[in-house]
Amino acid sequence: MSQEEIPLNQFQRLVAGRPACLLTVRYKGQVNVMTLSWVSPVSSEPPLLGMAIHPSSYTHDMFKRSQECVINIPGRPLAEQVVQCGSVSGQQEDKLALTHLQLDNGRRVQAPWISECLAHLECSVVGTVAPGDHTLFVVEVVGIWAESGAFANGFWLLPDDAEELHPLIHLGDTSFALLGKKITVAAKPNEGN
Ligand SMILES: Cc1cc2nc3c(=O)[nH]c(=O)nc-3n(C[C@H](O)[C@H](O)[C@H](O)COP(=O)(O)O)c2cc1C
Repeated sequence: MSQEEIPLNQFQRLVAGRPACLLTVRYKGQVNVMTLSWVSPVSSEPPLLGMAIHPSSYTHDMFKRSQECVINIPGRPLAEQVVQCGSVSGQQEDKLALTHLQLDNGRRVQAPWISECLAHLECSVVGTVAPGDHTLFVVEVVGIWAESGAFANGFWLLPDDAEELHPLIHLGDTSFALLGKKITVAAKPNEGN
């Protein structure tokens, strides 16, 4: 083994392995969608997530005002739209018209679902903190819906013969991975992590 020092600005690449998400917000009747992968659980009871959003984004402003969002988890077929929603701003362009993504009403929040996605986590803001150049929005997950062929019994199923049911794992920039092989170790973890 030979360890090489990695530049500090690549820190986030070493903790990669989260799904690329499409975040939807609605404010005063207007809907925007942006790509988000800096998302992490921060509490199990209540169910809280932290999401880091850059203040220059249009979503940041709408989300700060509306206090609600849907985290939509796209599958393999939406890779192109994921990159589009992450490289164009809703301030300049209507990304829904650009990507032809379809909306469904949210069930417990005003923000809408992206219909084509594998799963939808409806969230409302419980706090914000800005320790660096992104705002960390802490949100409570208030409802979750998922495709039964993609997620069941508490796990992503990752069917071998249906890549379209796999989430896109963000590696950095416009590179993604598909989860390939599930291994389960006999020891029991302390919490439901
Ligand atoms: C794969 C991917 C992941 C991204 N993750 C984040 C993220 O976690 N936080 C963030 O602020 N921007 C992230 N971005 C960049 C935003 O999606 C991008 O700035 C977008 O244009 C903002 O759109 P808006 O101005 O319409 O809100 C990501 C982009 C890509 C392609």
